[in-house]
Amino acid sequence: MSIIYNESKKTYTLLTAETAYQMKVSEYGYLLHLYYGRRVEDEDLSYLIQLQDRGFSPCPNELGNDRTFSLDFLPQEFSTDGNCDYRTGSIEVENGDGSRIFVGKVLKHKIYDGKYQIHGMPSLHAGENDTVQTLEIWLQDEVSRVTAVLCYSVFEEKNIITRTVRVENSGDHPVKLKGIMSVTLDFMDSGYDFIHFDGRHMMERELTRQPVAYGIQSIGSIRGSSSHQHNPFAILCESGAGEDWGGCYGFSLVYSGNFICSVEKDQFDQTRLNMGIHPKHFSFLLKPGDVFEAPEAVMAYSDRGLTHLSHLYHDAYRENLCRSPWASRIRPVVINSWEAAYFDFDDEKLLNIAREAADMGVDLFVLDDGWFGKRDDDCSSLGDWQEDTQKLKHGLKGLSDEIHRMGLQFGLWIEPEMVSEDSDLYRSHPDWCLHVPKRPVSRGRYQLVLDLSRKDVCDHIIQSINNILDNVQIEYIKWDMNRNITETWSAASEKERQGEIYHRYILGLYYIMDHTILTHPDILFCGCSGGGGRYDPAMLYYQPQIWCSDDTDAVCRLKIQYGTSFAYPISTLESHVSVCPNHQTMRTVPLATRGVVAMDGIFGFELDSTKLSKEEKDACRIQSETYKKYYPIIADGDYYRLTDPFQFTEYTAWQHVTKDRTESLFSLVLTEKEPNDAQRYIRLKGLDPKAWYEIGGLPGRFSGSLLMNAGLPVPGSLGQYSSVQYHIQMISGGKR
Ligand code: GLA
Repeated sequence: MSIIYNESKKTYTLLTAETAYQMKVSEYGYLLHLYYGRRVEDEDLSYLIQLQDRGFSPCPNELGNDRTFSLDFLPQEFSTDGNCDYRTGSIEVENGDGSRIFVGKVLKHKIYDGKYQIHGMPSLHAGENDTVQTLEIWLQDEVSRVTAVLCYSVFEEKNIITRTVRVENSGDHPVKLKGIMSVTLDFMDSGYDFIHFDGRHMMERELTRQPVAYGIQSIGSIRGSSSHQHNPFAILCESGAGEDWGGCYGFSLVYSGNFICSVEKDQFDQTRLNMGIHPKHFSFLLKPGDVFEAPEAVMAYSDRGLTHLSHLYHDAYRENLCRSPWASRIRPVVINSWEAAYFDFDDEKLLNIAREAADMGVDLFVLDDGWFGKRDDDCSSLGDWQEDTQKLKHGLKGLSDEIHRMGLQFGLWIEPEMVSEDSDLYRSHPDWCLHVPKRPVSRGRYQLVLDLSRKDVCDHIIQSINNILDNVQIEYIKWDMNRNITETWSAASEKERQGEIYHRYILGLYYIMDHTILTHPDILFCGCSGGGGRYDPAMLYYQPQIWCSDDTDAVCRLKIQYGTSFAYPISTLESHVSVCPNHQTMRTVPLATRGVVAMDGIFGFELDSTKLSKEEKDACRIQSETYKKYYPIIADGDYYRLTDPFQFTEYTAWQHVTKDRTESLFSLVLTEKEPNDAQRYIRLKGLDPKAWYEIGGLPGRFSGSLLMNAGLPVPGSLGQYSSVQYHIQMISGGKR
């Protein structure tokens, strides 16, 4: 049993194989949080709470003269608002009488087998071999009768707890929901570090780690998408925690829109984490009987460092998130036309690129931006999804047929959420973009954002996409989104619902994806938003892989891929070999190193194959073959970060290891070469200490114990930006 309700003690205990989580209904009906961490058995942990008379901490009225039960310091499972708790809250409601108060008390609960459902939004599902149980607890405000239903699904073997909250207006008056967190987690102590992943376009998910200080620290997005700037994933860990030791809590939001994750250290050295939809510009009208469902948060706890925490997320996100059959299929090696041709191409140029690529081990040719309307640059045509027959003389179908005749598959770029002012779509429906009446609309990359809060707009997009997918032989779609939202107002919504538009945009996006991506399970979809601007679990529910960054520089990618790997499995991360000097940084890096770095992901090419020498093409073909040979180790294995590129600048190393520890791929890139430098050694991870291994390219054999404790010398012959990749094979001794 993963969920235990103890009637006499009024405790709810959630148990996974390695973790425990406990709450208790207090004597006044408030739901207190007692514990989350390494598994302890189903004991009552309420002894941890020491009641005290705290000056300036008011107590609820029903306590009479008892001054020791203030919600200002008690750990709450879902905070009340407007009575006694002054910390960052779980909910904010404007009631029918204008008051802003919510005092939720436990009304009832329900425990059942399987996973809860969220309507219209992605969430995890139970796999065939998972034991999943769900607990729902109703917290009701007795006066307004607004009810927050807290939902928890416990993935026992995966050591994952998912959460969501359903807010129901069971009262008689309309209310406005002004803020709702998917997860609140109170800790009765402090001393944590807050780790988050920040960045910008072309430099996403750089790791930031800072001690949690008094006050409130937060990350988030108010850009209408999960964003390049902050990822909806954060870690709270013991201050000394590293890759292999220390308690670490992960929080991941399955949502692609505005979000916030805040951490607060209070006056009594306690810590509270909140994660959910960003409250800025958010409000949701709930008429009597209406229900609002918050996005899902996925929590995990590792008692042995960050690597194990990542493995918990990787396993869950590989097996319990994506609905596409492609999640478990071997992905093709693609060549993408963007950096090869940008907007400047015709059939002949594309076919030449594809023809040469066929000899480089490529399986699929992707035609990127520029194929539709009159799109010779990024100023026009978004919304007009008909091929430009000036460029494609035989249309998309003709091109696709020709590519297939070469033995390659065909992929296409689309950006369906956008419209250009210079487009037939905009000319016929100027009201279909987000805009505020009488105000000019801000442009981003010369484009405007379609109003996905409108069903007619969504249905039009569904029809345009399906028209392409059903009439052209297409095996791959790159779904892009190239600007953030502004002027968030919808011509189709009434005044009091304008605060819903950011969220309704995201619901509209999921509705479109439900009716395009999920209805075409054999097409492989790749997510993109100027690279990794929408790298979140909700996108991975639809699209098994995401173009990780518009920065294809192999050295920059070391940091980007490192940061991405904390939450997201390598099988979700698309990474391509491009030309040098690199188009983003002008840096020159050996082709071999570009290959090694691209193999730390779903491998492909982003270059003009007709401009490569024969030697380069041969090298690329060998890279494709190597990648295909090692695909199961890379995509399905466990991932080990061997160095932190933000702290240690000489080289970056990482390792993929099969789950049975019989094979591993070790990679290292030298990032800062100094003359006459120190001999460095690197210790491997994840091997069987008792087994013997052979390392491709090195003489002799090594025990797992030796490789993990004594390590390997970093070859002194490596020059700046050169790399090594070793295939490590178990030859005897281990458990297979
Ligand atoms: C975005 C993508 C690129 C490319 C361009 C096309 O920037 O991230 O890979 O597709 O759009 O306009």
